[in-house]
Amino acid sequence: MDKMIVHGGSLLQGEVTMSGSKNSALPILAATLLTREPCIIEHVPDLSDIHYMLTILNMLGSEVERASGIVKVRATHLRTEAPYDIVRKMRASVCILGPLLGREHAATVSLPGGCVIGDRPIDLHLRGFEELGATVQVKGGDIHLLASHLHGTTIHLRGKYGPTVLGTGNIMMAAVLAEGTTVIEGAATEPEVTDLAEVLIKMGARIHGSGTSRIIIEGVRELHGFRHTIIPDRIEAGTFLIAAAMAGKKVTLHRVIPQHLEALLHVLEEAGVPLKIKKESITITASPSLKALSIETLPFPGFATDLQAQLSAMLCTTQGVSTITEHVFPQRFMHLAELKRMGANIELDGARATIIGVDQLSGAPVMASDLRASAALVLAALRADGPTEINRVYHIDRGYEGIDRKLNKLGAKIQRIQE
Ligand code: UD1
Repeated sequence: MDKMIVHGGSLLQGEVTMSGSKNSALPILAATLLTREPCIIEHVPDLSDIHYMLTILNMLGSEVERASGIVKVRATHLRTEAPYDIVRKMRASVCILGPLLGREHAATVSLPGGCVIGDRPIDLHLRGFEELGATVQVKGGDIHLLASHLHGTTIHLRGKYGPTVLGTGNIMMAAVLAEGTTVIEGAATEPEVTDLAEVLIKMGARIHGSGTSRIIIEGVRELHGFRHTIIPDRIEAGTFLIAAAMAGKKVTLHRVIPQHLEALLHVLEEAGVPLKIKKESITITASPSLKALSIETLPFPGFATDLQAQLSAMLCTTQGVSTITEHVFPQRFMHLAELKRMGANIELDGARATIIGVDQLSGAPVMASDLRASAALVLAALRADGPTEINRVYHIDRGYEGIDRKLNKLGAKIQRIQE
């Protein structure tokens, strides 16, 4: 298992280009299962989660080719059963359910387990499939979907914690080939859902209202191949912006869509960080001191839960008292215990963390618990006195393309040790 040693104290300076969005690429790769024709996807990031998805597509019978960020997939003949061993490695594998059900009217996929950020049920996905006409059975740890035909209907997809991102994608991918019109009420409005809808429209689907909470899908008989460039990763960009706010002199991010980052940009401005925003780039310059903040995570366009851990790291050394309330995944606070080991002063009460800024964090051996928590530890380590050893960095490789390489290019001192 690789680990990283981060030597804190360097100031970040220079330019860095963002990769394609992982959370966009995963469901879009699953969407290739909806057609027999070849599909070409550009700017696919080189990440272990993407590798798992390509392996799943391959095991389902797709021909997959990959070269420098371009992936070609052709799903001429399909199997409808995904093997447990590979599916269990990535929760987002559930997004093959929708396309398999849409095209083959059948799917057997292992039920994903919980993970450290919470229980993570998929009840809303399954209810949506049932409403489209499928029978849903959970047996032997597998989800079995079967339908004689799928029919359009109105589906209320909003759950106790708000809309579901992958659930919205899954239902869209099943409904595009259903008979009649499907209306998704309470749909997720995240840019990744819009990117998927754009792909489905390129394939010949009739979809209106993506990016709003009401999506209307008129079923078609057949879908075609497509060529698409994945949107830039807003969570990677957010992570680099927070890194630059914490430990930067002057950093410019290229290949970003500032509209996807509005909530974070607003928060950084409120903290006193000078920003220069252009059409596809953002420059951030050092602020002598940051102001304390009160943040609540919310579905898009609110502050993203996927940036909560990274912002927590920033607030550890921001003078004053800050609060973070997590509404999307109320248990997503595993990173706080590790940040405390580095000297942070944090109190957790249910889904609300109170962070009292300290002058300096100190390097310590820490354990990455999940993808975004690991990024938070890297950021905290950049501001810490002395070296920080981050174990289990495979979590970070699931979602950041060469984060150590990109940060080192900006002047950080991060060593990766292969064990
Ligand atoms: C996606 C993202 C993840 C992000 C999350 C929220 C991908 C691959 N992952 O995950 O990085 O943190 O959106 O922005 O795109 N819920 C239910 N029942 C369901 C489904 C979800 O109760 O059937 C709950 C979840 O437990 C959570 C909330 O709804 O509390 C939002 O989850 P959801 O949007 O579904 O997250 P994912 O799509 O899995």
